[in-house]
Amino acid sequence: MDNQFFKNQLIEWYQSQRRDLPWRKTKEPYKIWLSEIILQQTRVIQGLPYYERFVENFPSVFELANAEQEQVMKLWQGLGYYSRAKNLHHTAKKIAFEFDGVFPKSYKELIKLKGIGDYTASAIASICYSEPCAVVDGNVYRVLARVFNIEIPINTSEGISYFKELANSLLYEKDAGTYNQALMDFGATQCKPQSPDCQSCIFSDKCLAKSLQKVNELPRKNGK
Ligand code: ADE
Repeated sequence: MDNQFFKNQLIEWYQSQRRDLPWRKTKEPYKIWLSEIILQQTRVIQGLPYYERFVENFPSVFELANAEQEQVMKLWQGLGYYSRAKNLHHTAKKIAFEFDGVFPKSYKELIKLKGIGDYTASAIASICYSEPCAVVDGNVYRVLARVFNIEIPINTSEGISYFKELANSLLYEKDAGTYNQALMDFGATQCKPQSPDCQSCIFSDKCLAKSLQKVNELPRKNGK
């Protein structure tokens, strides 16, 4: 499929199907960071109330930095992967006390912070600062593997770099943040892991996995 067609269709789909989520009403890096940390390994529907409670209790990075660790952990309770909350608190202190509350403004600077890896740095840089960085999460792996029939296992170093490169080559550079969120939403709601409704899909006559009847086999994972 032509790259231009893919990104145009996706952006068009997002304009009508976009989910109205609270972190989409802002470009404040604090709130985008918070939402992206919460949403790692967590579904939107599960993460939503946690996001609301964090923003209510800690409206800015200063309140979060000044909170007791115990309070932060208590609010995180039930989400799992508790190192996310510890790193969140640690990095909030760094930003509040060392950077006077000002977030780093580029992927290169963001990724230096504890708890911020390639995924989170790309999400913040693209959504808040329109930097052309592709986000590759589980949803993105699934959509790209299926639409483009990519057999390389996603849990190998070859797979990770292949998908990253493919995602970057498909990026809608004029609005990378919108494009990234469109792709994540598309994976979460249309190109679902189990029994996706391929008949109603915007890529139904272009999707290679669909025409090869491999939708349920892709993406591939080693050891599975
Ligand atoms: N999953 C993680 N971050 C997301 C975002 N910004 N939009 C939709 N799904 C997501």
